[in-house]
Amino acid sequence: MLTLTGQPATYGALVHEGTALLLKAGIANAAQEVRWLLEGTLGLSGLQLQLERDRSVPAEHRDRALALLTRRADGEPLQYLLGTQEFCGLDFEVGPTVLIPRPETELLVREVREMAGREAAPLIADIGTGSGCIAVAVAHALPKARVYATDLSADALGVARRNASRHGVTQRVRFLEGDLLSPLAGLGLEGRLTAVVSNPPYIPTGDLPGLQREVQQEPRLALDGGPDGLAIYRRLLREATSYLASGGRLVLEVGQGQAESVCRMAEQLGGYGVNGVRRDEAGIDRVVSLEKR
Ligand SMILES: C[S@@+](CC[C@H](N)C(=O)[O-])C[C@H]1O[C@@H](n2cnc3c(N)ncnc32)[C@H](O)[C@@H]1O
Repeated sequence: MLTLTGQPATYGALVHEGTALLLKAGIANAAQEVRWLLEGTLGLSGLQLQLERDRSVPAEHRDRALALLTRRADGEPLQYLLGTQEFCGLDFEVGPTVLIPRPETELLVREVREMAGREAAPLIADIGTGSGCIAVAVAHALPKARVYATDLSADALGVARRNASRHGVTQRVRFLEGDLLSPLAGLGLEGRLTAVVSNPPYIPTGDLPGLQREVQQEPRLALDGGPDGLAIYRRLLREATSYLASGGRLVLEVGQGQAESVCRMAEQLGGYGVNGVRRDEAGIDRVVSLEKR
């Protein structure tokens, strides 16, 4: 375990030694991360940290900061330590029971917003909701929409419910615990959904040990896509077809190099046409949009 060598006496020394610690731990953005951690945990703005760099640090502040800096140096993701991540312009609670929302996942929200925004009362399902980022952002963007959000993890659903409440959409997002679309059975939604959206686990099991150490601290259930990374897509394609309305969309985030396989699987299964594939900012085919025939 990496830790600070001394007991920094001033805020300036704390920033300096904290940055050295994170650099030693291989964290590229060390100086910025130290500022975010200190701002988030000590309640000081970046400007205050600058202006008060010669002021002595109260022991309580120093101990709190050192505990967090040590955990960050040990590879805990910054967002888990800060407890939040921004997504679609909204602030989401995150913690070790949920995947940290990624910027590329915003493309799913955009796709759903564009297609479902034309409907008078869209019905949307978010499968594998995690922090609830997609479900909550869609409900926030589409005030007429009702959203059903499922996850196998009860702990993740607890976080998702708090995020819905934080953003005032609790009345329109229903959270359901269970396997993929099975919690929707008995709700009278067959053939009625405007869109089914999902960012499922898609990393091939064999690739998990090679992931960045921060990513390895995210829930395995959120990452592991089976031997070829495509296991959940096979099931989603089959299950979604009975819930989608004719012309409804299945909108899927995919991993690098998976878009073609997912489109092929949809064509082989039948009942879907490929509506389009969106690229993310890195030029990776990231979102597959399928239309129910
Ligand atoms: C990649 S994470 C996505 C989380 C969130 N939607 C996002 O985009 O940040 C996948 C989520 O699917 C959930 N999950 C995995 N297998 C599932 C299953 N069979 N049924 C329902 N949810 C599942 C995991 O618990 C995790 O929350």
